[in-house]
Order: sequence, then C-alpha cells, then structure tokens
Amino acid sequence: MYRILELLRRQEGFLSGEDIGRELSITRAAVWKGIKKLREEGYEIEAVTNRGYRLTNPETMYNKRELEQGLKTKTMGQSIYFYEETDTTNNRARELALEGAPEGTLVVAEKQTAGRGRRGKVWESPLGTGIWMSLVLRPQIMPVEASVLTLLCGLATAEAIEAETGLSAGIKWPNDILINGKKAVGILTEMDCEMSEVHFVIPGIGINVNTTSFPPEIADIATSLYLECGKTVSRRLERLEEHYETFLRTGSFTAMLEDYRKHCITLGKEVHVLGREPFFAEALDITPEGELLVRRADNGKEEVVF
Ligand code: BTN
Repeated sequence: MYRILELLRRQEGFLSGEDIGRELSITRAAVWKGIKKLREEGYEIEAVTNRGYRLTNPETMYNKRELEQGLKTKTMGQSIYFYEETDTTNNRARELALEGAPEGTLVVAEKQTAGRGRRGKVWESPLGTGIWMSLVLRPQIMPVEASVLTLLCGLATAEAIEAETGLSAGIKWPNDILINGKKAVGILTEMDCEMSEVHFVIPGIGINVNTTSFPPEIADIATSLYLECGKTVSRRLERLEEHYETFLRTGSFTAMLEDYRKHCITLGKEVHVLGREPFFAEALDITPEGELLVRRADNGKEEVVF
C-alpha cells in the first residue's frame, strides 16, 4: 500500500485506480483495498468517480498519530517531534536536548534537506522514501563508554529489519547495515559531553525503505528494503529500547555481544584501517567495548581500532 501512496504523492491531481493498478501490476480491487488501509492509517485520500484518487494532504506520508499509536515502548518515542521537512533530524534532536528534552525523545522527518552521513558525507534523504530519525539518549556513563551505543543501535535496527522483512541484515562494523552486500541503513551518532560526563547522545538512524532507485554514483553500493523484498518495515523501536535498558542495567554491551558478532559481516574479512598511518588487517573480533580487534597484515600484531 505504501507504493500506492508513493504514486499518489508523485501525482499532481487525480490518479485513476486503473493507472495505479497498471503501474503496480495489481487489480483495481487491490488498489481500493490499499486506499482503505491508507485511510485507516490516517492518510486523507479523496476519491472522485471517473477521476480517481488524490492525496488531500500530500505532505503527510506518515503522521505523528500513527507513530504514537504504533509504539509500545516505555521511554523511546514517548515524546515525538515530526517534521515534514528539516535540514537534519540530528540537529533538531540536539536543539531539543539542549532545551532539556527527556530521554527517548524521537525526532522523525519525512525529508532531510541536509542529511549528514559519517566523515562529512551527505546522506540522501528524499521525501517519503525512508525513515530518517534521531533519538535523545541521556545515559549516565563516561564518554569512552558511549561508542557501544552506536553498535547497539545497529544491532537493534538489523534485528527489526529481519523481523519485519525476513531478510538477512548484516552489520558492517561498526554500524552500517548491508542487505545482500549493499548498504540499506546508516547510523550517525553524535554526542555532547565533558571529559568525565555524557550530557546526551544523539543516534541518528537512516533507513532506505521505499527507495526505488539511487543516484548513479551510489547505485552499485546502496539498496532499500523495498528493492530487496518489495515490502516495507514498520517503524518500531522496541528492540532498541530493550537493548538500551540492558546496557543501562548491566553497564556494558556484553549481553548483546554474541548477537552482534552473529550479525557482523566484518569478522574474518580483510579491513583497511584508516588513520594517520593506514594499514591492512584481518578483523578478528569485537571487544565488549565495541572496538574491532584486528591482526595486522604487515607484522601479525593484534590491535584494537575504533
Ligand atoms: C552514514 O552511514 O554515513 C550515516 C548516515 C546517517 C543518516 C541518518 S538519517 C537520520 C539522521 N540525520 C542525519 O542527518 N543523519 C542521520
């Protein structure tokens, strides 16, 4: 049904049930069923005889009410900020955190105009095709302990994708999620801290959900859930909350380490370790601190990297 929504969004004015059916290779009855489901989720869709369907409020892909109703969490997403368009959800979450937003505050945008990736890269975040979200976390930990939060988010997202789609989601350490060898999810974790105290952590998660094509320069390496399985993923955060609670309770990532290792496709592979003096190495293991243990190709010595 989200593909119907996508077509309606692209269309200026009405789109006939016949055209939708032809485009998606489904019957008109299936189109009508999809429209009904979308309406049940809160989308306003006008239907006019002989003309077809039209999104009354095309700016709304999913609404705040839908997000709130779907969540069964205790803290994550109990306070939701929803933007049709913003520069980056990480900036909004940071501003909210500085204003005192509570733990678990969720920022979601339909479109980001300046989506940020790691190492200064741009994160393409077009309207209505993905999940662009950031959280405000306030763990009482030391800054050095915060790096495992990004691994925890990667694991939770990979598990949520697997549960929803049946696809196998591999984590490329520390937190890119690859499906059939192509990247579908990126995570950018930012932090505000002093030497010995974390004020807040902002994990920003980008999931390519309904993207049907990518710009030529990344088409070989990027994918979406839709491209891999033809189905969308629900926007649940239960796994993340569960892992985060375990982390806070035990004070470590150890309880999740085995599951992380199972998902981690980097282990056993050759990696290029960047830094002042880049080197090649074999990835051996993940440490409880979330670092990668490697064996250097040049001198066989073991080292941890982050
Ligand atoms: C990467 O793989 O380079 C990280 C990409 C992170 C993208 C997400 S989308 C939501 C949040 N807002 C941003 O600007 N970036 C993160």
